[in-house]
Amino acid sequence: MANYFIKHVKLSSPFLLAPMAGITDVAFRSIARELGAGLTYTEMVSAKALVFGSEKTKQLLETASNEVPCAVQIFGHEPEIMAKACQLPELQKFDIIDINMGCPAPKIVQNGEGSALMKQIDLAEKIIKACVQATNKPITVKFRAGWSEETCSAVEFAKMCERAGASAITVHGRTREQFYSGKSNPEIIKACVQAVHIPVFANGDVFTAQDAYLLQEKTGAYGVMIARGAIGNPEIFSEVTHNVCPYTKLQLIEKHYSFLLHRLPERVVVPAMRVHLASYLKGYDGSSKLRAALMQETSWQNIHDALVAFFKDK
Ligand SMILES: Cc1cc2nc3c(=O)[nH]c(=O)nc-3n(C[C@H](O)[C@H](O)[C@H](O)COP(=O)(O)O)c2cc1C
Repeated sequence: MANYFIKHVKLSSPFLLAPMAGITDVAFRSIARELGAGLTYTEMVSAKALVFGSEKTKQLLETASNEVPCAVQIFGHEPEIMAKACQLPELQKFDIIDINMGCPAPKIVQNGEGSALMKQIDLAEKIIKACVQATNKPITVKFRAGWSEETCSAVEFAKMCERAGASAITVHGRTREQFYSGKSNPEIIKACVQAVHIPVFANGDVFTAQDAYLLQEKTGAYGVMIARGAIGNPEIFSEVTHNVCPYTKLQLIEKHYSFLLHRLPERVVVPAMRVHLASYLKGYDGSSKLRAALMQETSWQNIHDALVAFFKDK
C-alpha cells in the first residue's frame, strides 16, 4: 500500500475509524487498528471539561498500545479554551488533534459547538487558528456538508480550514438538518477535494469495502473514514485492506471483553459490552432472541456460555 500522511504523521492505511461517542472505546479502537484501520480517534471530548480538569473526561483519553499514531477529537466554541486544551500535558501523547465541527446533537449545537460552527465560519476560523498556533501537532477538522440544504457551505468551509492551517479535513456528506437520515452526498465531498490542497477524507454511508473504494473513486478523496459500517463489524478494516480477518466473531467479542476487563471491573464492563454485543450479533439468524436475553444478563460467564452455544452452529 502507498504511504499516507497527515502533515508529517504517517498513517498505516487511508481507511480511518471515525470517532463515535459511546462506541469507539479503547478496546474497539485497538481491534480496528489491529485489523487495518489507518488511524483511530478518541470519542469527542469537551475542551472545556479537559481544561477544568474533569477526571471523567480524562478517562476518555486512554489509548491502546497499538494506536500508533493516534488522534484525539476535541469540541468547543471558545478559541482560548480550545488552544489551552491543545497544550494540556494529557494531550501530548496524541499525534493529531481533530476538531469536531460536525456533531448535530442538540445539546452540543445549542452551545454553539459541533456543526453549529458551520453557521459561524469566522468563529470556526478563529478556533482553528488558535489551535494551530498553540501546538506543533497537526490540527484536523471534521465537518458536514453544511447546516442545511440551502446553506451547503462545505466548500467555503474547507477552504477556510486550509487557510487557517488545518493539515487535513474530513467531510461527512450530510447536512446538520439531515442528522443521519437520507444519503450522504459524495458530490459535495468531491467539490471540497477539488477546492483544497490538504488531504480530504470522505465520510458517509460506507458499509462494505466496495462502498469505501467507490466513495474514494467518486470523490477523489485521499482516504475514507468509516463510522456506522464498523460498529459490530471491525472486520471491515480487514476487508478494505485486502486482508482476511484472523478472528471469528466470537473471538472478536472475547477480545473486546478481555481488553476492557483488564482495565475495569466486570460490573462496569458487562453493561459497556451490551451495546457492542447487540451490534456484533446483528444480522445473524435467530440473534434477536439472544440479543434480548443478553441485555438482562449481568454475569459474563452466562453471556459467554450463551454466545458459545449460539456460534457453535454458525
Ligand atoms: C453513535 C455515533 C456516535 C458518533 N460520535 C461522533 C463523535 O464523537 N465525533 C464525531 O466527529 N462524529 C461522531 N459521529 C459521526 C460519525 O463519525 C460519522 O461522521 C457519521 O456517522 C457518518 O459516517 P457513517 O455513514 O460511516 O456512519 C457519531 C456517529 C454515531 C453513529
